[in-house]
Amino acid sequence: MKIEDKQLIDFYHYNTTNYHDQLLYEKGGSFGYENNIAVSKHPDDVIENIDFHQILPDLSSKRDMSLNNPLDKSEILNLLYNSYRFNNKKSLKSPSPGGIYPLELYLVIQNVKGIEKGVYLYNREKVSLSFINNFHDIYSLNVPSNNFIKNVGCMIFFVCNLNNLTHKYDARAYRYCLIECGHVGQNLSIVSNRLKIKSCAIGGFYDNKVKKVLNLSDNFYPLYSYVLG
Ligand SMILES: Cc1cc2nc3c(=O)[nH]c(=O)nc-3n(C[C@H](O)[C@H](O)[C@H](O)COP(=O)(O)O)c2cc1C
Repeated sequence: MKIEDKQLIDFYHYNTTNYHDQLLYEKGGSFGYENNIAVSKHPDDVIENIDFHQILPDLSSKRDMSLNNPLDKSEILNLLYNSYRFNNKKSLKSPSPGGIYPLELYLVIQNVKGIEKGVYLYNREKVSLSFINNFHDIYSLNVPSNNFIKNVGCMIFFVCNLNNLTHKYDARAYRYCLIECGHVGQNLSIVSNRLKIKSCAIGGFYDNKVKKVLNLSDNFYPLYSYVLG
């Protein structure tokens, strides 16, 4: 990676690592919409009332998880197999810049039947998990407002490996990784719903702690995550 690209990526990444009032729960602001055109009244618009619930599953966040009702190993592997896999024709696809697939998925297992507690790296070719270490205190990786996380079985971190991508896209690679996280996350939402696994997207984790427990090297950046239960 070129030194100036690395500096630019680090500047952005480390300056957005934590927000100042991460401890507070804030609802997003609302915009004032002035001079708006009511879509339904615009002469060129054809409004079709599509019932997406007929086509797509319910993708809303599910946070009411319980340690008394743990997921099992086959559910986790099924979810990974169908949401993010290499060289596959059947599972859900996600677009990736240059077909490079820079995201690695790391799992912190806290309460899953058939998998020892600990940190694992998902191998998307073999659909297997490689043990990294014994850490499993998921709650301590998250901001306090995410207190429902005490009850999750597993947390999946989306980590981008910038080594490969910056060769082709320079510093723009970082932007692409963020976008790819959204695509893979959407797949996890769809498949977990189908498998009746409760899931919630999580951005409020402590980057530095996560980097440490996942044992990430310098050009690997944790960007996004999902909890499951
Ligand atoms: C980038 C991103 C970060 C998020 N971070 C959190 C989080 O830290 N904690 C949480 O409980 N939900 C988090 N969410 C979930 C949103 O709160 C949720 O999707 C939103 O309120 C809409 O509700 P719904 O998913 O139930 O429709 C996050 C969602 C996204 C896309």
